[in-house]
Amino acid sequence: KRSAVIMAGGRGERFWPQSRLTRPKHLLPIVGESPMLRQTVDRLKGLVEPERVWVITNQEQVEAVREICPEIPTEQIVAEPVGRDTAPAVALAALLVEKSVGDHAFAMLPADHVIQNTEAFRKDLLAAFEAAEKDAVIATVGIDPTFPATGYGYIQADSAEASNVFPVRRFVEKPDLETAQSYLDEGNYFWNGGIFVWRPGTILGAIETHCSELHASFSAIRSALSSGEALTEILPREYPQLEKISIDYAVMEKADNVVMVQSTFDWDDVGSWPAIERHFPKDENGNILKGTTVSEDSSDNLIISEGDHLVGIVGVDDLMVIHTGDATLICPKDRAQDVKKLVKKIEALK
Ligand code: GDD
Ligand code: MG
Repeated sequence: KRSAVIMAGGRGERFWPQSRLTRPKHLLPIVGESPMLRQTVDRLKGLVEPERVWVITNQEQVEAVREICPEIPTEQIVAEPVGRDTAPAVALAALLVEKSVGDHAFAMLPADHVIQNTEAFRKDLLAAFEAAEKDAVIATVGIDPTFPATGYGYIQADSAEASNVFPVRRFVEKPDLETAQSYLDEGNYFWNGGIFVWRPGTILGAIETHCSELHASFSAIRSALSSGEALTEILPREYPQLEKISIDYAVMEKADNVVMVQSTFDWDDVGSWPAIERHFPKDENGNILKGTTVSEDSSDNLIISEGDHLVGIVGVDDLMVIHTGDATLICPKDRAQDVKKLVKKIEALK
């Protein structure tokens, strides 16, 4: 009775201006031939049947998601009326799985990761399922860190007991650069892969302990569900009042029943513009130039022009210029995480 819930409600803010609310990165083939969401569903084959897969997305994307995933039952592609980040999405997922199959473990997966080694992925996810089925634990997947990323969570693992499932000592979401570097120096820290496996009862219990307000709201949602009210009526009423918080801050940083499966698969969260660099060829000066672009005496830039608008650069390094039909982004690569702030400002202008 293994189930999976895919979180596909992100707004792809850090990929502005190429991604927008109606075409965020998980609906685009940013890397590879098919949309990232499609790749995520395909990766589950053999481990979770399509009739036990849910996708939690938003109103603006739900039609596109249904088209991309025709084998998933329509009513299991759920639209949030407003985005409240991942903690409410996780709580909703737990209720839906519990109602459908009872207290059986399910995987919570992001929709926007590049993972090529599907076989290793399935093996590791199975190990996480087994851990969550055996004990009331939150199982995460830990990735060997290769640089002091500030866009990921970090897991400090205790030494393994004869398997690749480690008890977790500490979880820190998105530390600053200095802290991230100290974790790499210290060793035994892993990136949080953003992939979780737990039983509905385990994660709802953790939400109750660490985030009681959110839990109370979901108790109301659960009663409404069991009284037969439709989700499409419940969510618009309840969701807007929920706190906007990610599961990493709401639960992972506080929980003490976390275990980690050390990943044996390749993994990349193409979370922001510089991250796509690993997947595209560079010129002799380290520039990635896509579309109609010309560079002179410039190195290590990422320049993308959609359509036939010509973008030229002279004497600049480590810069991103992303030009689309109606918007242009200019930003030093090391400020890529701050594109999110820019998008907030742009939205406030509307
Ligand atoms: N349904 C729904 N609703 N999905 C959402 C929402 C929401 O409001 N917000 C984000 N998501 C989806 C995104 O589409 C993505 O698939 C997933 O949830 C994770 O959200 P991100 O916004 O991409 O999170 P992150 O990359 O900053 O951080 C998380 O992932 C990292 C690894 O990729 C954290 O879990 C980090 O600890 C982790 O290292
Ligand atoms: Mg992400």
